[in-house]
Amino acid sequence: MLFLLLFSLLLVACGGSATPSTAIATLDPVLTQGQEVFRIHCAACHATQADMTLVGPSLAGIASQAALRVEGQDAQTYLSNAILRPSEYIVTGYQNLMPNTFGKTLSGEDFDALILYLLTLE
Ligand code: HEC
Repeated sequence: MLFLLLFSLLLVACGGSATPSTAIATLDPVLTQGQEVFRIHCAACHATQADMTLVGPSLAGIASQAALRVEGQDAQTYLSNAILRPSEYIVTGYQNLMPNTFGKTLSGEDFDALILYLLTLE
């Protein structure tokens, strides 16, 4: 009887831990972090939905647009510059309103995760 009880407790314990760990394994933690950084620091001015203009342009499709913006800059370089030195290149039709303080306020880890996340916005 005690054995049966222990056995069923063991089953419950295994079942309980197996489900969340499978779910977590399907999410990329770095992309989740990048999305969170975006939500906190960028989403007030940038939509990720196409054709939706807030203060700045929608970043839907930025992963492919970024490489076409400035000659000689690949997507990653353009995105880094756009975030760290936004005044260097102003998107046509917009004003120079993006803060130039992200180099100070974002940690290196958050910055890298943010760039990886932006590169998924195809
Ligand atoms: C106060 C509003 C504001 C905030 C906050 C802001 N931006 Fe911007 N952003 C703009 C504006 C306005 C532009 C267009 C002018 C320019 O090119 O600088 C822009 C331009 C950009 C561009 C260039 C887009 C293109 O189509 O080439 C990128 C990339 C970008 N922002 C990323 C970000 C990221 C990432 C964050 C968060 C870390 C952020 N922005 C935060 C207002 C903002």
